[in-house]
Order: sequence, then structure tokens, then C-alpha cells
Amino acid sequence: CGIVGYIGNNDSKEILLKGLEKLEYRGYDSAGIAVLNESKVQVFKEKGRIADLRNTVDFDVLAHVGIGHTRWATHGVPSTVNAHPHQSTSGRFTLVHNGVIENYESLKREYLQGVSFISDTDTEVIVQLIGLFAGEGLATDEAFRKTLTLLKGSYALALLDEQDNETIYVAKNKSPLLVGLGETFNVVASDAMAMIQVTDQYVELMDKELVIVKEDKVVIQNLNGEIITRDPYTAELDASDIEKGTYPHYMLKEIDEQPLVMRKIIQNYQDDQGNLTIDQEIIDAMNDADRIYIIAAGTSYHAGLVGKQFIEKMAKIPVEVHISSEFGYNMPLLPEKPLFIFISQSGETADSRAVLVKVKEMGYKAITITNVPGSTLSREADYTLLLHAGPEIAVASTKAYTAQLAVLVILAEVTAKRRGMKLGLDLVHELGIIANAMEVLCNEKEEFESIAREFLTVTRNAFFIGRGLDFYVGLEGALKLKEISYIQAEGFAGGELKHGTIALIEEGTPVIALATQESVNLGIRGNVQEVAARGAYACIISMKGLEAEGDTFVIPEVHDLLTPLISVIPLQLISYYAALHRDCDVDKPRNLAKSVTVE
Ligand code: G6P
Repeated sequence: CGIVGYIGNNDSKEILLKGLEKLEYRGYDSAGIAVLNESKVQVFKEKGRIADLRNTVDFDVLAHVGIGHTRWATHGVPSTVNAHPHQSTSGRFTLVHNGVIENYESLKREYLQGVSFISDTDTEVIVQLIGLFAGEGLATDEAFRKTLTLLKGSYALALLDEQDNETIYVAKNKSPLLVGLGETFNVVASDAMAMIQVTDQYVELMDKELVIVKEDKVVIQNLNGEIITRDPYTAELDASDIEKGTYPHYMLKEIDEQPLVMRKIIQNYQDDQGNLTIDQEIIDAMNDADRIYIIAAGTSYHAGLVGKQFIEKMAKIPVEVHISSEFGYNMPLLPEKPLFIFISQSGETADSRAVLVKVKEMGYKAITITNVPGSTLSREADYTLLLHAGPEIAVASTKAYTAQLAVLVILAEVTAKRRGMKLGLDLVHELGIIANAMEVLCNEKEEFESIAREFLTVTRNAFFIGRGLDFYVGLEGALKLKEISYIQAEGFAGGELKHGTIALIEEGTPVIALATQESVNLGIRGNVQEVAARGAYACIISMKGLEAEGDTFVIPEVHDLLTPLISVIPLQLISYYAALHRDCDVDKPRNLAKSVTVE
């Protein structure tokens, strides 16, 4: 979910709606705003997108104060009733919330027996508690503070009090929240992207702080009421980076940006002599580790699988890759000097953050590889490596994945050199070749459109197979396809298919096979024969030099170890066109959110 707030000399509604549009990547099943004018709150909320909400908003009455929310449902189905803002029974308090309150049921039982709830959300408990304590005579900030001390879980909150036209009350714990500063106004946002149109000056909020936001001042306090001072920082976001321009979808724009991102990464990680370089402390930490643990979710996890190969093959340090949400349950036996690497495009994924908090408590060092400077995972780790990919807005990750691979291979190379290994690989040169190959692929869109039309327009399911590095790319290809086209897709190791899953192959089942690795080329082609003999409709994507007659598409030749950086592009584009042909909402697929800030 994402939240915004505005207090200042302009009308708040348009600013809130525009801000929410920029936060839709955080969830988009319902949305709402509340505006306050002359001690009267008006709430507008709607199931669906911000565009649907906009149609319900009455723009006639001006309101200089307001809060807004775009939702990714956790407690309670997506509906207008469950959409935020929520209000206390008297209507005096109005609240938006991002996060999950774990003890909401016990709070309800203990404090709110007589209250009749309107929604199924955990959020309503918070606003009813504030209403209760204010009703007992506490001032609003005291009632808010008392409520905060009772909450267990994660929250970013913005609160309006109908009896006070001059204040937005704000607090956070575990969920991200910023206050943006303007000349004649101040704003609140889950992400600077939401308000970059109005200000680039932001103050980071920390867990368990209560913030009073007024038109001309912002007061940060801890839960004991002590005032905290903190300097603002300048958000380095280019407003034009977050526009689609002439592209029909962000996803297509972001796929096309990949060659540019490669070149930016090379530039950012080069020293004056043109050598790849990474902060000495990070390389020392890598070198000191007896085992590395990569922790990530979704696409970032798939990047981690490839990253393990880079680090093990080049720097010769053993690596394990773990899905962040599972790490806590199946905690491996840790060696003496483990090092943790968190990979997260957003730097906000709550599942990954939970692991980071745990390993920091255990006293271990952590590196975050992220696209978002200043994000929670970046702030809380010891070191950060940035992706320099520019904002990624489409829910399905594309340029962040290839950027993650590039940063991981650079990390592996610099570590290997530090360990005195001779690699026989000019990585700057090879990454340059990758950027050029990406460009070639991005210019072949019609090819991928027709592959998508031929293989994926009518099917219910699809399989991606590969061996070695191709297997990991297949996992990512399957994830892309299912995320945006809703075709049930699975990635399999070519050799494993025969141990069960081949039972699913029927006449016409699409099987997309990757053949970019010389060492496994014969093996994967054998697997293609096996599935084709059972009726599968095989689409073979091979690499120049390894191609065979009948291959569907041949990608340009690149260094053997780096093929995942380009073999994924056909899969991204095929998924994009499959989703288009099936009339799916490419940038905002159902049930998903880009940044999942709940565990
Ligand atoms: C969400 C997104 C995925 C993403 C995953 C991890 O589930 O829908 O596309 O890969 O989170 O996100 P992160 O920001 O941590 O890389």
C-alpha cells in the first residue's frame, strides 16, 4: 500500500491524486482520499484504480489539508468499504495505514467491545482506539501516542482530526514514510516519487516516531514526547524518469532502457583508470567471509541464483541463495564468518527486511544491492551497492533484474581480483558487448510479438526449460509470463522434467527452451526432443554459435557466463506481448504489487 498527505496553501485533492497515481505500483485494488476543510472531513473512496477514485471526487470545495491511500489488500477483501481512509465512529478522526497490525483482534477485544466496526480491516482498530482515548479526554497527540504504544506490527500512518484544520499526525514502524518540505506547504509520502513534482526536499522518519506536520513546520518526536531534529536530504529523482513518455506501457519502456542501464552501471563502477571498482570495505567483507548468503524475493531471488554462480566461479567463495520469507523457518547452520547479501529492487520488501533485522541482531555484516538509495534495506545494511537503473515502475521487474546481474558480476570480479585470481576476462569490454546485444534484441520486437502470438495466445500453461544458467533464466521467464499474462508457467531444469512434470505435456503445450550454454547444449536439445515426441510445441531460443536448424530465435553471441543478461530479454518481450494479446493490464497485473511492505 502507499500513503500520501498534503497540507498547504493549494487545494490538496489534485496533489493527493497525482501522488497516489505515482504510488500505484505499491498496490491498486482500491484507493481513497480524505480532505479537511473548515472542520469538515470529506472522504472519497472506491474499489479499483486511482482513475476510478478520481471520478468520485468532488473538486468544488477547496481543501488545504488531505490524506490518501492506495491499497494492496491484506485484511479484508478489496472493496469500497475496506478501502482507506477509515474513520472513528464519531467521524472525528480519519486515518490511512500501510502495514499490518498483528494484535488487532486482541486490541479489539480488550478496548473496543462496544464499538461497531464498519470494515474488516486491521486499520479501523487503530482509528477507533484514537477516538476512544480522545473521548476519554486525551489531546489528539496523546491519544495517538497512547495508541501507538499498543500496536504490534508494521505501520505507516497519517491521521486527520476534524477539530484541527492545521495538522496531519504521522507515525511509522517498519513501513517506509517520508515527510517532504515545501515553501508554503508540507507533504507526507511512502516514497519520494509520489511528491517529486512538488518538492525534492525530504526528511526520513524513523520507527516509533510521531510527527506533527503543519503547513509551515514539521515537528518530530519520539514516543516519550522528546523533540528530535533531523536535516532534510535532496531526493535525486528526475521527474521525467517516472513518466511513460510515448511508450504504451512502463514495462516496454523499462525493457528498452536495459542497454542504457548497462552503460550507466559500467560508468558508475569504473575508476579513473577504467578498472571496475567497489568500495574497499565491501570487498574486504566479501574476502573475509567463509560463506555468503544471498537473501531475496521474486525476481531478485532469481538474480541471486545467477549471482551465486558468478561469485563461486569467479571469486571462489561458497554461496547459498535463500528466499527471504523462508529463511527464518529453515535457517541454515551458519559458519564462523557469514556475510549476507540482500538483493531488492525496491529496498523495501518486508520479507527481506525481517531477515536483515535478524542477522544484524546476530551481529553479522550485510550488503544491500538495491535500486533505491535511502531505502529501508539500504539504510539498515552495513553497505549498499546501487543498481543505477532509474525508477522501475511496471510491477513485473525487467531492467532491475539485468542490473542486479551486472552489479553481482562486477562484485564477483572485483572480489576475485582482490583474492589474486586471474580471470582471463575483460569484464568492462564484455559488459559493453552485452549492452550492444541488448540493443539488437530490443530492435527485434516484431519477432517476439509473433512468437508470443504463435505460442502463447490460446494456451492455459507453458514450460520454460534450460540447464545450468539457462535453467535460472527459465525460472525468471516463467515468473514474468505468469505475473502479467496469467498463463500458468513453470521453469524447469531440462533434465528434471522427465522425473514428473513431463506428465503434463499434451498436444500443443508450449515449451520454451533456452540453449545458450555450450556445455549443456546437447543435453537441452535432447530434452526438447523428449517433449516434442509427446506433442509439445517447442520454441527454442539459442545463442549464435550454438544454433541448430529449426531454432525459433538466435540471440547474439556473448560471454558464456553472461548469457543470462541477454537471454532474459526475449523472455521479457514474449511475456509482454503474450499479456497484450490476452488483453491483460501489463503494468498493473491483478493481485500483485511492486513493493510488498508486509510479511
Ligand atoms: C514483489 C514484486 C516482484 C518482485 C518482488 C521482490 O512481489 O511483484 O516483481 O520481484 O516483490 O521485490 P524487491 O523490490 O525486493 O526486489
